[in-house]
Amino acid sequence: MTNDEFRMTNGRRLLEARDLWRSYHRGSETIHALAGLNLTLAPGEIVSIVGRSGSGKTTLLNQIGCLDRPSKGSLKIAGTEVTGLKEQELAGIRRDHIGFIFQLFYLIPTLTVEENIRLPLIFARKHDEQRVSELIERIGLSKSRRALPKQLDGGDMQRVAIARALVNRPKILLADEPTGRLEKKSRGAVLGIFRELAQDGLGVIMATHDPELARDAHRKLELSDGRVVSEEDYTQDNKQQKEQM
Ligand SMILES: Nc1ncnc2c1ncn2[C@@H]1O[C@H](COP(=O)(O)OP(=O)(O)OP(=O)(O)O)[C@@H](O)[C@H]1O
Ligand SMILES: [Mg+2]
Repeated sequence: MTNDEFRMTNGRRLLEARDLWRSYHRGSETIHALAGLNLTLAPGEIVSIVGRSGSGKTTLLNQIGCLDRPSKGSLKIAGTEVTGLKEQELAGIRRDHIGFIFQLFYLIPTLTVEENIRLPLIFARKHDEQRVSELIERIGLSKSRRALPKQLDGGDMQRVAIARALVNRPKILLADEPTGRLEKKSRGAVLGIFRELAQDGLGVIMATHDPELARDAHRKLELSDGRVVSEEDYTQDNKQQKEQM
């Protein structure tokens, strides 16, 4: 299957960035953190973003997550052009379509596992205990639902952060160095969870310095100076692997 066929069979695009720029001005100096970047994401697709420090990975995730605005270019999320939206409309896109996880987890230390996962529902004024329970089961923490974050290891904390990012049923999961603070065995588990979620149609974009994690995606994009300088498609390999199983 070619890259394009893979995307076609998976239906509509979740994301389309065209000629995206994000420029910062520092005195007389201008830094182009993104410089004409193109990217698409289909439902069920896992894309890894690699590149040395300062190449623009976090800046890209922040644009897609509507946490920051591009200086120029087009960015469509679930079919909506978001570049001209008002702050409140961007917050709506974030709430309805995007889940975010980070290297440092950012769990609330005084809340239990299930309370941390439930939190975004409360902010969205929704009630969905079934979703909370389903996610706790999926991340394998049913026995720890009333534990506090400090009672968990790093891998389990990141599982909780993944569940929290997904509780509002986003279409896109953004992960910035999700395994940066984890031991090797937990790193594999995170990717296992991403794969299961992708089978249900979630699109995942993860920035990583971990070559093994990057290689386990469907596609890997390498950034340099704010643009894509190389792209590798692993869907063919993945398909062959599946056939061998
Ligand atoms: N708020 C800001 N003001 C000015 N320059 C910024 C700002 N945020 C990022 N930059 C610059 O934009 C470029 C891209 O930074 P970015 O954080 O996106 O890189 P990165 O690929 O995520 O790096 P790392 O691997 O270290 O996380 C860098 O040159 C950085 O210094
Ligand atoms: Mg970064």
